[in-house]
Amino acid sequence: MIQDLLHPAIAPRPSLNRGRLAVLGLGYVGRPLALGAAAAGYEVIGYDPAPAARAVTSAAHRPGRGSSRASADPAVLAGADTWLICVPTPLDARGRPDLAAVRAALGVAARGLKPGALVCLVSTCQPGATNGLCRSVLEEAGWRIGRDVFLAVSPERENPGPHALATSSIPRLLGATDDASLRRALAFWRHIVDRVEVVASPEIAECAKLLENTYRLVNIALMDELHAAFTALGVATRDVVAAAATKPFGFAPFWPGLGAGGHCIPVDPAFLQMEAARAGAPSVLLAKAMARNRGRVARVMRQISARLGDDLEGKRVLVAGVTYKPDVADLRAAAPVRLLRALQGGRADLAWHDPVIGAAPKALSAMPRSAALTMPDGARPDAIILGTPHRAFDMVAITRAAPLLFDPFGILPAGLGVIVV
Ligand SMILES: NC(=O)c1ccc[n+]([C@@H]2O[C@H](COP(=O)([O-])OP(=O)(O)OC[C@H]3O[C@@H](n4cnc5c(N)ncnc54)[C@H](O)[C@@H]3O)[C@@H](O)[C@H]2O)c1
Repeated sequence: MIQDLLHPAIAPRPSLNRGRLAVLGLGYVGRPLALGAAAAGYEVIGYDPAPAARAVTSAAHRPGRGSSRASADPAVLAGADTWLICVPTPLDARGRPDLAAVRAALGVAARGLKPGALVCLVSTCQPGATNGLCRSVLEEAGWRIGRDVFLAVSPERENPGPHALATSSIPRLLGATDDASLRRALAFWRHIVDRVEVVASPEIAECAKLLENTYRLVNIALMDELHAAFTALGVATRDVVAAAATKPFGFAPFWPGLGAGGHCIPVDPAFLQMEAARAGAPSVLLAKAMARNRGRVARVMRQISARLGDDLEGKRVLVAGVTYKPDVADLRAAAPVRLLRALQGGRADLAWHDPVIGAAPKALSAMPRSAALTMPDGARPDAIILGTPHRAFDMVAITRAAPLLFDPFGILPAGLGVIVV
């Protein structure tokens, strides 16, 4: 079935005939690209097996000069001029990069390509994925790269949330396997974004994307470690960071938190590490940063248990904010969810409160939800743990809602009962 991605009230204007664009994967990354390309004059067909990804909310509608549709049938993509691979690249249960969706999407593309078509990898993958995995799937299907069809990589740099920049305004890295592919890919991306930064090879684009997120993970881990040190010294970490951030050069601020979550920061460095290890040069520092990040929830949990007398059973504990970052309704690899599970293991009388989340997601459906800073039955919690500091929270009201407040961010106004962890 094909659905209109554009709201019926916003009738698509006649196409500028920029060609047909296939977008494989209509999630956080694929959807804005699909809508942006439609607005730039492309006839966009999105493919996604998940009905929710194909369904469009009115907030996502944008007036378009091209057209935009979504389908669960990959056959409708056949003959598209340009193919964007925007599928997920998570870690598997053992923490290793899982490229199954990329392989599947490449298979769909290999079957539906026509001569002259461009395939561009947008998903975050390991260094060498474009010239390795992508090239081999297309070549096995009989396509000659740079002659029959073209191949490039342009990793995404989305930053979901209230401070999100428009996709078109974020400079786009672009690397291609050969000059003909680069020319073809450049012509496409120049229609979609304001600035394209061409790099000399696909591997540079792939590594740059991984460097960006590795840089963040390592600094988040460093801040976590120093937060423990500053707190032990009796110095407020946020004040230290704010003071250092007055330096106009050579310092980028990172703030304490419950640990990096989401689908990128804790995940992407594993792609880099996998290939670095394969090349005989694994990063020791990165391995330590990944371990530090994984251990943050357990360390917070130990501090909370100790403050609650090492016995959580029957203690009324409310976690305020459960998403992986403030003001975003996304629970993927969210540290507060891991904390909730750890608290559940301790048999606390547990509830969560989050004004940003609509319907309770599956991951939390078995845990009681509270509509306010109380337990679901209206009782006052024994302790509140700040899981995510959403803007919607009144931090002063939080400090009055329980006798004990655990604050991994150092953000609650200091006062009786506030414990920075
Ligand atoms: N979300 C971000 O902010 C962000 C930022 C930069 C990079 N990325 C990267 O972009 C890629 C996509 O991330 P996302 O956040 O959009 O993921 P997502 O989970 O929001 O969306 C991916 C979509 O792909 C669909 N899908 C799965 N397998 C498919 C297949 N074989 N064919 C077609 N569709 C398929 C899923 O149903 C889902 O709707 C990942 O590699 C991610 O690391 C994401």
